[in-house]
Amino acid sequence: MNVFRIQGGYPLNGEVPIGGSKNATLAILSAVLMAKGETVLTNFPNIRDVEVKLQLLEKFGVRVEREGATVRIDATHLNGYEADEESVRPIRTSFYLLGPLLARQGKARLPAPGGCKIGTRPVDFHLKGLNLMGANVELNGGVYEGQVSQLRGATIYLDFPSAGATQHLMTTAALADGITVIENAAVEPEVQILAHFLQAIGANIEGAGTSTITIQGVRELRGREFRLPEDRIQAATYLMMGAATRGDVTVKGVLPAFQTALVSKLVEAGAHCEEGHDWVRVWADRRLTGIRVKTMPYPGFPTDIQQPMAALLAAADGQSVIEETIYEARVGHISELNRMGARMRIEGRSTLIEGVPALQGAIVEAPDLRGGAALVLAGLAAEGETIVKNIYWIDRGYEALEDNLAALGGTIERVSQAEWEASHSAYETRLN
Ligand code: EPU
Repeated sequence: MNVFRIQGGYPLNGEVPIGGSKNATLAILSAVLMAKGETVLTNFPNIRDVEVKLQLLEKFGVRVEREGATVRIDATHLNGYEADEESVRPIRTSFYLLGPLLARQGKARLPAPGGCKIGTRPVDFHLKGLNLMGANVELNGGVYEGQVSQLRGATIYLDFPSAGATQHLMTTAALADGITVIENAAVEPEVQILAHFLQAIGANIEGAGTSTITIQGVRELRGREFRLPEDRIQAATYLMMGAATRGDVTVKGVLPAFQTALVSKLVEAGAHCEEGHDWVRVWADRRLTGIRVKTMPYPGFPTDIQQPMAALLAAADGQSVIEETIYEARVGHISELNRMGARMRIEGRSTLIEGVPALQGAIVEAPDLRGGAALVLAGLAAEGETIVKNIYWIDRGYEALEDNLAALGGTIERVSQAEWEASHSAYETRLN
């Protein structure tokens, strides 16, 4: 196990390259099961969650070959329909394999998924959609068991525009018999990216990116080459880190349209922004001021960046409020930030923040992926040394984080926890 050791107080300055999108890749790694022939994914991210998903695919007889940022996948000889608890639990999107397995093999058995502990994260919309498409899916002893003779098109209304349910059902419908209409669909960029991939392999989809998506099922999908677009959440995290350290950071290879909500809130807090065709620059030359933020489905402020935003606002001037409307328990970062001197409390679905002049370095534990990123941001902006433990959470979704931050002038290193504990206890002994 490793920890991040961060010396805070150095402004981040410069350009940072952004790797392929985690959540788009995870959705596409379910859709690849639908195709025969080879799919080649380029700009493939080097992060833990996608590794876990590739290993899971191999358990179903899928051929996976990786060479740097290019991954070749061939699901022609798909031969499994069930996976064990250990392979499925680490990630949420293991569940999105259920529909593709039903489409290709008529049966599937998958233990309930896991992922970040940020709320109850039910799968009822997924089940409703699959059942409307003619499948019979039931939970037996913690395992979802499904079967179907032929999936058929259906009209599916989602009670909430769930990104995952939209992606799962849109993918499954691509091989169903007839037309599927998803109403109140999510309009997240990752849904649109998945639709582009499915169209590239032969699916007939209209309306992705709007709240009504229509899928005309086809008989067969064939693998193709597809470039994975850059990760908008990683990009947003670096922009916030730049603003929090009163630095000047440019993210490259990203669409400014995907950063609109963040940029407008950062400007409201007193940062500056400039953007071009495929880059966004944010800089801050003074202490930021407190603001109100409310998370919403796209194009609203993304829930995935509210935790780093809370860390940024912890040392802003005045009060801030962050209202989290998507996940009821995305709060694990708050007690850790308070260890660093933040003054935050929870009231209902909101985090109330009383800005302090500066955060102080401390030993903290990443509670989940984005909560971990929030602690790294806090450590970079804080006075003194911060140790972030449980960084396996951060490795799930941030590629080359410490290298990118070091290139921007941050002082951060990954050290083994055992080594750090030994040096830390020697230091404490000297103090006593
Ligand atoms: N929901 C239900 N029933 C369902 C599905 C969802 O009630 O069947 C609820 C959820 O509990 C939540 C809301 O609907 O309250 C939205 O959930 P959604 O399905 O949109 O989330 P997801 O697909 O499970 C993806 C991302 C998350 C991101 C959300 C929202 C992946 C792998 N995960 O999750 O990313 O927060 O969309 O944009 O794509 C992350 O990257 O850190 C992360 C958690």
